Amino acid sequence: MPAADYGLFAAMRERIARIPRLSIAVRPTPVTEAPNLARYLGGPRIFVKRDDLTGVAFGGNKLRNLEFRLARAVQEKPDTVIVGLDLQSNSARQTVGACNKLGLRTILVLEGRRPSVVQGNLLVDYLLGAEVRFAVDAAGQRAAMDAAAEEVRAAGGRPYILNDNPMFDVASALAYLDATIEMLDQLHGAGVEVDCFYMSSGGKGQAGVALAKKALAGRFTMRGVTASHKHDVPNRTASIANQTAKMLGLETRVEPGDIENYDTYVGKGYGIPSEAGNEAVRLFGRHEGIILDPVYTGKCAAAMIAHIRERRFRRDEAVVFVHTGGTPAIFTWNDDLLGLPRSLPIATRGAT
Ligand SMILES: Cc1ncc(COP(=O)(O)O)c(C=O)c1O
Repeated sequence: MPAADYGLFAAMRERIARIPRLSIAVRPTPVTEAPNLARYLGGPRIFVKRDDLTGVAFGGNKLRNLEFRLARAVQEKPDTVIVGLDLQSNSARQTVGACNKLGLRTILVLEGRRPSVVQGNLLVDYLLGAEVRFAVDAAGQRAAMDAAAEEVRAAGGRPYILNDNPMFDVASALAYLDATIEMLDQLHGAGVEVDCFYMSSGGKGQAGVALAKKALAGRFTMRGVTASHKHDVPNRTASIANQTAKMLGLETRVEPGDIENYDTYVGKGYGIPSEAGNEAVRLFGRHEGIILDPVYTGKCAAAMIAHIRERRFRRDEAVVFVHTGGTPAIFTWNDDLLGLPRSLPIATRGAT
């Protein structure tokens, strides 16, 4: 990489540093090589960016995002953060962990019914001391968040509804713009030029990597793999990248055509493991001792493995798999991962 690129990195870091940010995640996370998996697949060098090791409540990508989002929130001096998310949300778990570190109380309003078996992220939410409430649908969730805010106010507290924070999407993009520089720096330091990144993304984190590629003239390919059919990911990613560029005062524009995102590894639906994803979980575990999850990272790894098997890479190329976390889901999908008949009630798993 030409030395001039370091100037671009430093300039971008300076722009990011102008945005309020708290220190919550353990950063930088490690990048490790996965030589056994690479040998088994007969493909390129594989590196794993361990964002499952961001250090709070089992880690994950949202801790990077929360550094920006909660920085905005604390400006209003709340004592209680209220957040509405899915029953088995990784984001909810990381939000509670981050709020604990900041000395804030958390009320979670989760969409779904309280399951008879408390497992996975929900178990961690309770262990972290979140006050958990349930709502059957999105309208009920909104009403429950507003009611919780009212209760906190009536008791003399200062609530903050995190869903109303305008930073959600842009915070993820900022986080992964920063993380891309972190990874390029780490890998370059190890003498590795990255050819391709794989990351599970519905568009938010990928927006940051896409912006990094465009603004820093990166020669790598970025392949996002979505875990749901909820969004038109290329359009969403470009739009978030451009909002982020604007916030940073950059002229850079990202077009939907710049975005590579695969929706062909979702399988039966969001939150439901797939055979290919489960195979990927097993391969990472058995060859590298790395635990992926069957809902997000396993499906993304399945895409990477399929591409390697299709011989899309030369042996001397370097692929980076960004491990975005989500590992508590292995405990709700225990039998699927072992190829056994399903035993836990579906509500426990939070699948839709
Ligand atoms: C483990 C994991 N990976 C990836 C994602 C998707 O990230 P995003 O769409 O925010 O880029 C999520 C989102 O919740 C997640 O929990």
